[in-house]
Amino acid sequence: MYILAVHGSPRKNGNSEILLDSFIKGLSQSKEDKNNLTEIKIEKIRLPELNFSPCRECGGCEIKEECVLEDDFKNILTPKIFSSDLLVVSTPIFFYSHTAYVQAFFERFQAFWARKYVWKLPHPLNKKPKGILFSLGATKGAKLFEGLIRSYRYVLDAIYGNYVGGLFFRSIEKKGDILNFPEYLERAQNLGKEIISLPEETWSLNRDPCP
Ligand SMILES: Cc1cc2nc3c(=O)[nH]c(=O)nc-3n(C[C@H](O)[C@H](O)[C@H](O)COP(=O)(O)O)c2cc1C
Repeated sequence: MYILAVHGSPRKNGNSEILLDSFIKGLSQSKEDKNNLTEIKIEKIRLPELNFSPCRECGGCEIKEECVLEDDFKNILTPKIFSSDLLVVSTPIFFYSHTAYVQAFFERFQAFWARKYVWKLPHPLNKKPKGILFSLGATKGAKLFEGLIRSYRYVLDAIYGNYVGGLFFRSIEKKGDILNFPEYLERAQNLGKEIISLPEETWSLNRDPCP
């Protein structure tokens, strides 16, 4: 099982990264409990540290069956995305959506959309990756995470994947605020443990389309 954890906040060591790291801690602990016998590879990528552009809408992926832009999305992220069995995205809410880094990341799935729907090609490794979201915002907005979830569902569809749920927290604003809620971090850590040892239907995720 290959798990790709993507972090999309410009703020390093901020709330969404602390949450993601708790999840990764749970994954690693569970792997150690099994004496590292399980075939699990976990990788974390911070999008702001990579160099890639949003989709240019050039139509290149409809002329050739891959993106024509030669950058870190194509050369670093694409092979990791195709290898992933679980694709986790952690982002703060910026103006009721994900950050611009995550938007650029999502847009580049357009070439995968074209692979699937224009070129009618299967997933290159015949995988059906599962997708999980971690997100948080400063306010208490009732529909704070709705747009993000809707986008991610369509993004995952482009790689024959399925959104399975996420963890979402409100009233988290200043850097490190999430540390005042150890129960949130515990939930992320426990989720990491469950993913290694339990079937997906039992993972403690919020599966609501508008949590
Ligand atoms: C540009 C910008 C836009 C934001 N927009 C929202 C918003 O629409 N709703 C909200 O609840 N919080 C909003 N926030 C607050 C962040 O979601 C919040 O501070 C979060 O904890 C940041 O997480 P991080 O430390 O992982 O970057 C915004 C913050 C910034 C910088």
